[in-house]
Amino acid sequence: MRLKDKVAIITGGARGIGKEAGLLFLREGARVVVADFDGSAGEALEKEIRELGGEGYFYQVDVTDRNQTQAMVDNVMERFGRVDILINNAGITRDGILTKLNQEEWNQVIAVNLTGVFNCTQAVVQVMVSQGYGRVINASSVVGLYGNYGQTNYAATKAGVIGMTKSWAKELGRKGITVNAVAPGFIVTDMTTKVPEKILKIMQEKTPVGRLGQPQDVAQAYLFLASDEASYINGAILNVDGGLVL
Ligand SMILES: NC(=O)c1ccc[n+]([C@@H]2O[C@H](COP(=O)([O-])OP(=O)(O)OC[C@H]3O[C@@H](n4cnc5c(N)ncnc54)[C@H](O)[C@@H]3O)[C@@H](O)[C@H]2O)c1
Repeated sequence: MRLKDKVAIITGGARGIGKEAGLLFLREGARVVVADFDGSAGEALEKEIRELGGEGYFYQVDVTDRNQTQAMVDNVMERFGRVDILINNAGITRDGILTKLNQEEWNQVIAVNLTGVFNCTQAVVQVMVSQGYGRVINASSVVGLYGNYGQTNYAATKAGVIGMTKSWAKELGRKGITVNAVAPGFIVTDMTTKVPEKILKIMQEKTPVGRLGQPQDVAQAYLFLASDEASYINGAILNVDGGLVL
């Protein structure tokens, strides 16, 4: 029970890595708010949480909309009276090489992956400051550290997340709030289902531990950074990639 009675908001929590993290956090004693755009996946997960006897609920939110992210935090305060953990996990891809990438694809990825992280953190941070306690964990990517063919927009946002993480770690550390990021490598979720089998095989061969990542690999990293064991870790970027980008 490493998160006993903690209240955690997990954005993009209805599917993939976020869903796995929510279920893990519940097992560790947290009250979990599944904050996601996707109504049907979110409602299905809320039902699953209830069946497991966990304390948590689904809140439908578009992280790109500041009014909605503020309303989400107000709602969590009404329901649970505090917010201990924010996992900025919602993210999208709209891939294309530089010469083909259009304005819409650029704007959408910036709005979710970068502005969404800013919106959610700004809405939560006053609560955390008044509590004198908080854990913010941001989903970056190895692509933000090393770049990737066809991912100008995505790489820009994931590098931007690292910049925000380090800035907030400096601003908020004295207020009892730590801010860290994870940089996953290749994780098998809906986000990566379009990748051809041939590329998956190459990725697996290139990964020193000899397998692709699973959502629980990243969920465990979120759990560690959210736990009290990580209280002296602040401004860190934790690669979760099986050694892919050493
Ligand atoms: N899967 C990977 O290989 C991988 C690698 C590195 C980093 N990441 C990052 O990890 C995070 C989770 O990725 P995943 O693979 O689980 O993705 P996913 O596509 O399985 O899930 C993302 C979730 O975010 C939600 N979402 C999208 N736009 C939203 C919005 N505007 N408001 C609220 N919710 C929104 C979706 O509905 C979905 O439930 C993302 O930030 C992603 O960039 C993933």
